[in-house]
Amino acid sequence: MSQALISHARKLLGDVTGSRSTAVFAPGRVNLIGEHTDYNDGLVLPCALTIGTGVAVAPRTDGKIHAVSRHVSSPELLRDEFGVDRQIDRKAENFWGNYLRGVIVAMQQSGIRVSGADIAIVGDIPQGAGLSSSASLTVGIARALLAGCSPSLSSGITPQQIARWAQWSEHHFADCQCGLMDQMAAAVASPGESILLDCRSLELKRIGLPPQITTLIAHSGVERKLAAGEYNLRRQQCTMAARRLGETSLRDIDVSLLSERANDLPEIELRRARHVLTENLRVTRAVDAIESGDLLELGRCLRESHRSLRDDFEVSVPQVDALVDHLNHLIDREAHGLGGARMTGGGFGGCVVAMIESSAATAVEAELRRHLSLRVAKPLVLKMQNA
Ligand code: GLA
Repeated sequence: MSQALISHARKLLGDVTGSRSTAVFAPGRVNLIGEHTDYNDGLVLPCALTIGTGVAVAPRTDGKIHAVSRHVSSPELLRDEFGVDRQIDRKAENFWGNYLRGVIVAMQQSGIRVSGADIAIVGDIPQGAGLSSSASLTVGIARALLAGCSPSLSSGITPQQIARWAQWSEHHFADCQCGLMDQMAAAVASPGESILLDCRSLELKRIGLPPQITTLIAHSGVERKLAAGEYNLRRQQCTMAARRLGETSLRDIDVSLLSERANDLPEIELRRARHVLTENLRVTRAVDAIESGDLLELGRCLRESHRSLRDDFEVSVPQVDALVDHLNHLIDREAHGLGGARMTGGGFGGCVVAMIESSAATAVEAELRRHLSLRVAKPLVLKMQNA
């Protein structure tokens, strides 16, 4: 929970430095639908989670950053130390502090003078689950530094700007050419809130999920590792497909044009583009279905999205496919097909998300937990339902 993480981070900072701190929370997200569309200027529907990252900061006067970080499930304390008045370099690949360093460099490049600071970070998002632990971390750091070390500047800074700094850190300090969805969800949405985001205009609409819909998130047990290379490759394939069709972005191409020009593309790019174009349509359909309470149609959108990610975009793995199939089977049995399941996030492991008619959710959840306890060492199931 956000308040608990804030207190936790504050206490950690107090234990380490004895100083008084400013503390903030930034959530993780589950993407309900709209996968691999953000970097194609498309539509996404992420929902902010109650799990995330608490960040406490206290200014220092010596121009140094002294940071400690830990995950709630582990006693291990990770550290990073560097000066803000000289060039900030990234360190070895996969070093957690690169995210912190990247955010500070991005803020400095925007003209924000970040003073030295003691920083304590506590997170409860499992890593490699596809629930945006890194966006929650980077957005939390930027928010905390603004609030605690540059409060006079923070009033003019928009959540979009914070999201951009967080994305810059991923691009330049973590080698992942991600879109802006995760950072926007962490920067603008409150826990439990979904946003329909147009990733071209950054226009957004807040979508309240009705109590009739329950969202379940379950970890497949496959940790998503070293997936940045495959992710960046998908992004290149999409850009190439758009270029071959005479546009800079797949957002400017519609499905009928893609079928007419199918022979102008290598088969793999055709499938990548087909996923993106049809996924944008599914986001709009899914939002209409949520707003009109049509769970059968919502379920169709989720199931089609998964098939498209599995077959055309090729970012799923067998364990995730099996879990999605199992959930869809449970939804058919317990909820008469009112809902559906799909992989969520960048792919190559991690979580699946299901949206289900609420009166059947308890039965589906119980069976899901039983299923996972037989297959996964540490089962993780999150449930969200608006009152
Ligand atoms: C990762 C990226 C996002 C987005 C998703 C796939 O989470 O960080 O920008 O592209 O994958 O939808």
